[in-house]
Amino acid sequence: MTLTINVTVNGKSVSADAEPSTSLLEFLRDVLNYKGTKLCCNTGECGACTVLFNGKPVNSCVVPAADAVGAQVVTVEGLADGEKLHPVQQAFIDTGAVQCGYCTPGFIISVKALLDRTKRPTPAEIEEAVSGNICRCTGYAKIVDAIALAAERMEGSTLGIASGGRS
Ligand code: FES
Ligand code: FES
Repeated sequence: MTLTINVTVNGKSVSADAEPSTSLLEFLRDVLNYKGTKLCCNTGECGACTVLFNGKPVNSCVVPAADAVGAQVVTVEGLADGEKLHPVQQAFIDTGAVQCGYCTPGFIISVKALLDRTKRPTPAEIEEAVSGNICRCTGYAKIVDAIALAAERMEGSTLGIASGGRS
């Protein structure tokens, strides 16, 4: 038995079939060909597969595609405005917060969600917002710099957040 999934992805209404066991991540990557969202642990622990689901970040590897019927989903491909990258994307590049890049789409989605709801996040709010995203390469300091830069550019002010990072 297959299910027909009607969902809005990056502002476009799409309809495609999926098996009942298909995750939202598999549906995005393998059925709709949105490969920007990464598959890593596949158990909801690393955040590489983070997408916005009705405005909230979720680990799409543990969300059944069937639950997305009628939902609004945003992937990293949906953030740029034509050729112009989203400020969060640009900040990750400008601060050197991307190394292998595998974690980057998930971080960018989590940070976008944070800055959509909080224009001037505190260090504690930043820590909480990306607590579900794991990076094996950067040591997190550059990622904190990227978040602060994105917030400053989007808000037009200085947050004064020094890079600290997790260990
Ligand atoms: S791939 Fe989904 S949380 Fe790791
Ligand atoms: S840049 Fe490689 S895992 Fe984060």
